[in-house]
Amino acid sequence: MSDTAARPPAKPLLAALLAGQRVDPPPIWLMRQAGRYLPEYRATRAKAGDFLSLCYTPELAAEVTLQPIRRFGFDAAILFADILLVPQALGADLWFETGEGPRLSTVTTPADLARLKPAEAIHEHLAPVYETVRILSRELPRETTLIGFAGAPWTVASYMVAGRGTPDQGPAHRLKAEDRPTFDALIDRLTEATVVYLSAQIAAGAEAVKLFDSWAGSLKGEDFDRYALVPARRIVSALKERHPGVPVIAFPRGAGERYAGFARASGADCVALDTAVDPAWAAREVQKDGCVQGNLDPRLMVEGGAALEAETRRILEAFSGGPHIFNLGHGITPDADPDNVARLVDIVREWGATRR
Ligand code: CP3
Repeated sequence: MSDTAARPPAKPLLAALLAGQRVDPPPIWLMRQAGRYLPEYRATRAKAGDFLSLCYTPELAAEVTLQPIRRFGFDAAILFADILLVPQALGADLWFETGEGPRLSTVTTPADLARLKPAEAIHEHLAPVYETVRILSRELPRETTLIGFAGAPWTVASYMVAGRGTPDQGPAHRLKAEDRPTFDALIDRLTEATVVYLSAQIAAGAEAVKLFDSWAGSLKGEDFDRYALVPARRIVSALKERHPGVPVIAFPRGAGERYAGFARASGADCVALDTAVDPAWAAREVQKDGCVQGNLDPRLMVEGGAALEAETRRILEAFSGGPHIFNLGHGITPDADPDNVARLVDIVREWGATRR
């Protein structure tokens, strides 16, 4: 596995995804790499006025996407947007309460569902996002892979049903128990919207896409199959039909043992691992099927120190026998220290240099 080409691939991250190729040093990017821990992000966000205006102003959204690439030289840029733009494009109200997070008008009845637009109608609202992708595909360095993304149906539905983030997705679980036809119709609508949304991002220049199922961990047993795995499989297979060769990263956060076999069952080219997953276990049970991404604890971007180096090396070693993309196990937090991020990139690249 370690016989990498003498010359490094033109786009190391895409090579790891596409061919399931071992690349040294492993390509690196971080979830939420464009965000409040960076002073230049805070300045651009202030210029935009608020978070949603930043998402819908292509020049500024492209600017914040590029900031962490300039500063740290990551191997991938992830489109700056949010998973909750899709419910808004379907007709839900969306706003952000300062210091609290997202708020949405709720969808809990057949009448609410009937008011949502059809999946194909999202493009008008989301046109600025596609324009951001086009700007980025012109402006990114050639070696940087451009990743598009969407929220997975279950995670997005959990916000739409509750009208906000919830610790246990209680309202969505209740709707599922009490009115399954309405819940299933919402999941279906979101599955269709996700396909057309990701497809349009790819047409605009996204080279890979990632599906964020941040709350997959609260789905147990048959529910996990029905609402995490099946929608992921439907989305991946529809995308593969329309855009063969564009890799998909799946992030069923909190899946635990269900990470084993998820890539094969969903058709995803790579699975992103959260911080709860033991790298040694995942190397045996998950990486045997292809590329894995992860999974450093974002806390170490705040704390730094000797633990940052030790943990980074432990993850690098554990996944050294196969394709690996280095990342955190969840998004970087606003209190992270940019110097720790720079150190992380150095540790990964220095470790990789000794293996070539
Ligand atoms: O990773 C990236 O840098 C790309 C951009 C991105 C954002 N959100 C920007 C953002 C991505 C991929 C997301 C995904 C997202 N959004 C998820 C799934 C991933 C995860 O973290 O679990 C979820 C659940 C959301 C919904 C959402 N958006 C919440 C709950 C919040 C509020 C939390 C907070 O940190 O304030 C957001 C806002 C948000 N999305 C911010 C950013 C940079 C912070 C907004 C700000 O500038 O104030």
